[in-house]
Amino acid sequence: MIIHENYSLKKLNTFGIDASARYFAELSSVEVIQEILSEQTFINTSKLILGGGSNLLFTKNVDGIVLKNNLKGIEVIKEDADFYFIKAGAGEVWHNLVMHCIANNYAGLENLSLIPGNVGASPMQNIGAYGVEIKDSFYELEALHIVDKTIHSFANVDCKFGYRESVFKRELKNQYIIVSVTYKLLKRPVFNTNYGAIQKELEAMGVRELSIQAISKAVCNIRSSKLPNPAEIGNAGSFFKNPEVVREKFELLKHQFPAIIGYDLDNGDVKLAAGWLIEQCGWKGKTFGDAGVHKLQALVLVNYGNATGNEIYDLSQKIMDSVKDKFDVQLEREVNIS
Ligand code: EPU
Repeated sequence: MIIHENYSLKKLNTFGIDASARYFAELSSVEVIQEILSEQTFINTSKLILGGGSNLLFTKNVDGIVLKNNLKGIEVIKEDADFYFIKAGAGEVWHNLVMHCIANNYAGLENLSLIPGNVGASPMQNIGAYGVEIKDSFYELEALHIVDKTIHSFANVDCKFGYRESVFKRELKNQYIIVSVTYKLLKRPVFNTNYGAIQKELEAMGVRELSIQAISKAVCNIRSSKLPNPAEIGNAGSFFKNPEVVREKFELLKHQFPAIIGYDLDNGDVKLAAGWLIEQCGWKGKTFGDAGVHKLQALVLVNYGNATGNEIYDLSQKIMDSVKDKFDVQLEREVNIS
């Protein structure tokens, strides 16, 4: 067990914010986690579990211990006539897992190609893109309880998945460290190409016969064309969630703003494209020092170099206020603020 003090987190968050941790340790095995959690010094110290750091904005230094989840491993733990059950360590890089599945013809994760972050975050915030969410392929996870230090299993229903939500972001927040996640992946793929941009890209690629490989490539192409690569420009993907409004509210907005973009939800409500709302308020492509709103996707806030977490946070607040003023719609941050 190696504990670092006053450790820089700049390279460990995709926004590239220059924050530091009072204490820092890497979690390379369950035993290491149990050892650290048993240390007298850390029992009452606040703990921040870090995965890929791709959905996180540091607005101050961390006055506690940052535990970087580095638990690795990908294995097929069982299979039946229809499914492979793939178990991955929470510290595996998400896209590496997707590539591994695609190379082995395990179907279900292809639409989620190139999402930044690690395996542990996939159930935490029910990652989603291009018509698919992780809850569709999630089987179970193992998580270590921070206080009793034993491993608990959570099935799909226990995670209470919602749009970019799970029990681990709400009632069980900061109580567990996710150790591994098992996905239930199809032997015979069911292709999901409902999302218009995928169909267009597959056509542009000249794909005649659908495959999970082709869908993954199409998704990678789309993402690379409009989302900034965190390795080049600091960002955390969509900064806000797409807000949901009741139908009457949507009809009123549609009357006033005929071009507004909304998607029907099963419960009758409508999900609005926050990127469109933000763009209409004039924010797209704007920069304030090194903080800015991406020029191709207004939902993505960026750090062009040395922006502070507070500068990004203040910008997000101004955006929320202006969307509220213009549309009477309250945006909610998707990114965790620390
Ligand atoms: N739009 C604009 N202006 C913009 C951005 C978007 O008018 O600046 C319009 C687009 O033209 C499109 C609509 O808004 O008609 C939706 O845009 P897009 O397809 O880019 O998707 P999104 O709703 O902005 C969501 C997810 C993304 C995910 C994509 C694709 C959220 C918060 N974001 O974005 O997820 O990749 O759909 O499925 O749900 C993430 O969570 O970090 C993330 C990147």
